[in-house]
Amino acid sequence: MRKAVYPGSFDPVTNGHLDIIERAASKFDVLYVAVLENSGKKPLFTVEERIGLLEKATKNINNVKCVSFDGLLVQFAERMDIDTVIRGLRAVTDFEYEFQMALTNKNLYPRLDTIFIPTNLIHMYTSSSIVKEIAKYKGNFESMVTEDVKKALEEKFNGKEENEK
Ligand code: PNS
Repeated sequence: MRKAVYPGSFDPVTNGHLDIIERAASKFDVLYVAVLENSGKKPLFTVEERIGLLEKATKNINNVKCVSFDGLLVQFAERMDIDTVIRGLRAVTDFEYEFQMALTNKNLYPRLDTIFIPTNLIHMYTSSSIVKEIAKYKGNFESMVTEDVKKALEEKFNGKEENEK
């Protein structure tokens, strides 16, 4: 069985991520979308919330499994018997970090290869950080996320505003 993992923070999942998920899922029997638990970043959404949003967004893709992992990606891959990592590439600016991760993972676990999927042009400037920033200041980010993610972001920021009053 051809298995791959698409790891990330997914805080929250964007349409750019979903484009990569759809394209990767069509090339493997199972695609694990794996949310990192022990990130140094301070996420807006809990791991459970992020997995919930991913599950809703991918409910029509039968071979996608949304899971969490902590520790190293190579440990998850080895445990799940996965030898392919999927990562999306937007601009050249992504490349150095992505290349470093791919080479480090390969060094730590030689069975593991990384496949880069170039983003669809329309998602070139979409990122979770940009979406959060636009949402925070009540801008229009509709084209970048699903309706569920839009609602979840609005709830987070409206809730925060209420708490700050
Ligand atoms: O969406 P992100 O934040 O760019 O995803 C980064 C992620 C989660 C893929 C990366 O940070 C990761 O794999 N972290 C797990 C820890 C690890 O394996 N580090 C060594 C590889 S550099």
